[in-house]
Amino acid sequence: MLNIAFFGPPGSGKGTQSKLLLEKYELEYISTGEILRDEISRQTSLGITAKALIEKGQLVPDELVVQLLEDKLTVNSDANGFLFDGFPRTLVQAYILEGLLLKLNASLSCMISLDVHQDELIRRLLERAFIQNRSDDVEHIILERFKEYETKTLAVVEFYKSRGMYVSVHGTGTAKEVFERVENVIDSVVKVSSQNVVLIGRPGSGKGTQGEIFAQKHNFHYISTGELLLNEIAKGTDTGKDVKRLYENGISVEDETIIKMVEMEMSQAHGNRGFIFKGFPRTLIQTYILEGMLRRMNTSISLVVYLDVPMLECFKRLSRRSQTHDARPYDKTTDLIIGRMEEFETKINAVVKYFKKQNKLVRVNGIGTTDEVAARLDEILVRSLKKTRRRD
Ligand code: AP5
Ligand code: MG
Repeated sequence: MLNIAFFGPPGSGKGTQSKLLLEKYELEYISTGEILRDEISRQTSLGITAKALIEKGQLVPDELVVQLLEDKLTVNSDANGFLFDGFPRTLVQAYILEGLLLKLNASLSCMISLDVHQDELIRRLLERAFIQNRSDDVEHIILERFKEYETKTLAVVEFYKSRGMYVSVHGTGTAKEVFERVENVIDSVVKVSSQNVVLIGRPGSGKGTQGEIFAQKHNFHYISTGELLLNEIAKGTDTGKDVKRLYENGISVEDETIIKMVEMEMSQAHGNRGFIFKGFPRTLIQTYILEGMLRRMNTSISLVVYLDVPMLECFKRLSRRSQTHDARPYDKTTDLIIGRMEEFETKINAVVKYFKKQNKLVRVNGIGTTDEVAARLDEILVRSLKKTRRRD
């Protein structure tokens, strides 16, 4: 989801830039100012309360604004993303927005602040007063709106700065010139807010083979925790030595080791469409951790593919591999293979259930030759990813 918020004092161009942005991206537009003006024109009880405050240049209480917002978000929960204009305007609203988006498994991609000098703001709003008939575009009310902005709204800046989501854009020049700056910011956000695929399946189901083929063809950064660990073993690092011991005893590697490696590998990615995670996450805890790591990068898990191969077939494949040069330290004995299979069966159900509930899970039949499975996977993945991608 691409979720953008426009921030800035009255007259900075939030509404103007929102309209331009909506021509380019298919986002659900939420302007609390417009929603309130609509409530006022329909003379609802909320509108009557809001009118008195707006005409004094004051903010409407958080409780009222939040109700309006929650409705809009819930009704449009399948949107490509949201564009917020004039929201959040208080620290409380910022916390509430974070919570509401989390419910949709999303977060704000960035907050774009339009930076304009106060003299210019007043000039614009008084000029607008001639064109539109906004009851709050009167000089003494405009000055009150600025005061509210300074005392209550500016606090929001630190909230988003500390989360690395705040970007300030120079807001003077023609609307088109400002939009070009806005576009540059969004383009860089879209690049990191990429698509990420998790590939799960029994040991021996062919995840590695297939994951690499797909990643190469579609420019994804492929991350296999199994391979990262094997690299450590090959390099003979301390971690590698520990991991080798664990493998040989059929004990799984600690989450901490895995997470550090994944985080390091993620930081190496450049210019890819997203990540393909193979063999990670394998537990619910790892799932939560991966979601957190991706959220910090303004992105999330787009799709989870379960490569479906019956257990017996997996056993056959693994025991065949154990006879070759490609044998892994954890393929060496039947006991080790059984141990891994058991570990997978007991832990993966919770992960599968979790992603199923989010509608992110697709099952792909993994039986057939490598090429057959690759073609099948390609078709399903490309189609499913298209559905999750915003229009650009
Ligand atoms: P709201 O409607 O959000 O008003 P605002 O924040 O005061 O901002 P404006 O809509 O006046 O300005 P804008 O930044 O959108 O600028 P615009 O593009 O129109 O809120 C109104 C009231 O509702 C609040 O005071 C509050 O009481 C209440 N409210 C709303 N949300 C709330 C919330 N979350 N919590 C509590 N209360 C809430 O541009 C202004 C003018 O400049 C236009 O005429 C435009 O054509 C022109 N212009 C734009 N860009 C340029 C440019 N680059 N060069 C020259 N002119 C330009
Ligand atoms: Mg506006």
